Amino acid sequence: MGKQFNSDVLVIGSGAAGLTLALQLADSARVTVISKDALTEGSTFYAQGGVSAVLNDDDSIDSHVQDTLDAGAGLCNKKTVQFAVEHARNAVQRLIEYGVPFTREINSDGVENYHLTREGGHSHRRVIHAADTTGRAMESTLADRVKQHPNLTIYEQHIAVDLITGDKLGIANNRCLGAYVLDRKKQRVHAFRSKFVILATGGASKVYLYTSNPDVSTGDGIAMAWRAGCRVANMEFIQFHPTCLYHPKAKSFLVSEAVRGEGGKLLLPDGRPFMHKFDPRGELAPRDVVARAIDHEMKRTGSNCVYLDISFKPVDEIKKRFPNIYQRCLEYGFDLAMEPIPVVPAAHYTCGGVMTDINGHTDIDGLYAIGETAHTGMHGANRLASNSLLECIVFGESAANNIRSKLKKTKLPDPLPDWDESRVTDSDEEVVVSHNWDELRRFMWDYVGIVRTTKRLQRAKHRVDLLASEMHDYYGNFRVTNDLLELRDLTVVADLIIRSAMQRKESRGLHYTLDYPDTLPNAQDTILTPDNFVTLKKVSG
Ligand code: FAD
Ligand code: SIN
Repeated sequence: MGKQFNSDVLVIGSGAAGLTLALQLADSARVTVISKDALTEGSTFYAQGGVSAVLNDDDSIDSHVQDTLDAGAGLCNKKTVQFAVEHARNAVQRLIEYGVPFTREINSDGVENYHLTREGGHSHRRVIHAADTTGRAMESTLADRVKQHPNLTIYEQHIAVDLITGDKLGIANNRCLGAYVLDRKKQRVHAFRSKFVILATGGASKVYLYTSNPDVSTGDGIAMAWRAGCRVANMEFIQFHPTCLYHPKAKSFLVSEAVRGEGGKLLLPDGRPFMHKFDPRGELAPRDVVARAIDHEMKRTGSNCVYLDISFKPVDEIKKRFPNIYQRCLEYGFDLAMEPIPVVPAAHYTCGGVMTDINGHTDIDGLYAIGETAHTGMHGANRLASNSLLECIVFGESAANNIRSKLKKTKLPDPLPDWDESRVTDSDEEVVVSHNWDELRRFMWDYVGIVRTTKRLQRAKHRVDLLASEMHDYYGNFRVTNDLLELRDLTVVADLIIRSAMQRKESRGLHYTLDYPDTLPNAQDTILTPDNFVTLKKVSG
């Protein structure tokens, strides 16, 4: 039989968002963090470019806000953006106090300060970074702190299966009461009950065949929230990062936008530059523009990749600024300092997600979503580079503050029913799961990628419907495993992406369709509402 675990706050996911919130609350609450793999595994660990924030006097809040709104192509929530940008400096300062070793430089006046890099869509140098492994530096620092805190309990290799709500248990007051969680090692499902539950499960880019994301990015939080009755928004806006290393073994290793920020040029196979034909900002245009330009040129020339060249810079400078990228490229046989390297776009970031307000609160009382899982309105139709880690730390903190103010007056829910396994058996056909994984990710890449058409979306919808019905049967009949749970969630997320894309009868930001190439004058969010949307308390915009 499964066990019951109790806490004040249950954090599902241990990236920048989850760990920020956990640390902020640990002095006032008993916090449990569950993570489906190792504590540090998640997109945060692999982040390269850095965190955007207005940190020097030449820059301004207005400018950062405007760049974010411009990249977001009319769909950002201005209040949310303003809030994030205004809180950025303090949030970064907290990371510095925690001990994140951001890169420093001595300027021409002999003054030492943090080095700020530049990325696409930013009109200033405003990205603070730790060489080219910013995420590793952040995640390791946060994880070390979390491990040392006496009020924090960590469960690694534990995957959340589903949220438990009053609605599901037939209790009139619909509130999130906890979650069922599979211990992956012992293959047991336990009930974690809690006053507050936080979805910090990251994005869903594993729904695509080629992605910069780690294996854990399967959109679990979005799928769980949807099943529990939360609205999701803007799921059609999947960001494809323009430059992942093109090599069969590289598993879409990211080559940071900071390489272009420091002057890197994109070239066709014959060595000619091409970005100037698409946007006056060239290589530093927002990502949707650059990814689409690369896609266009690859299709036009029939080539498998384009090239990124920074070899004209001094060798020492390249090795110092991009030590990790330089080393990884060498492992695959490319010398970043001596030659152009082959690159292709890959799925990178989920702009949409679970609808929340500025405090991370969702449609269901007691349930919060933060980080890439959430749709705060920060990114609109296209996220500005390095605004994601910023969103994680700013909204991780605002959610923590909101929860802290409610902790005393909120009661721990009554004990939860045990997970019921009486009607399931062990699967005798694991091949169904692995086959469906491959099929889903391939048709999403082929039909719901950088350039879409209505016909391709209809094809994808047809296939995802079939998979969803197979998964429904499979889930109902067999004992849950990690792969089955992830596939079930990916199927939900794929369906949400396709449905959102079908609803948008225009091209805007990251959503580009040949059938509706123009942008409509009025920008509108795509909001999907689940059938069991029961709560009366709707999120304000
Ligand atoms: P993650 O860091 O992805 O963490 C999610 C956590 O949830 C993980 O611990 C995972 O194991 C856990 N989890 C998921 N599902 C479950 C479940 N069912 N049960 C239990 N646990 C679960 N953004 C920037 O701003 N700047 C950058 O320089 C930058 N570079 C990037 C480079 C790469 C290669 C990638 C992939 C992304 C980059 N991004 C960058 C985006 C940014 O890193 C992510 O958006 C951000 O780190 C997401 O943080 P998060 O805390 O929301 O999720
Ligand atoms: C990168 O370093 O190019 C990734 C930055 C981001 O995704 O914000």
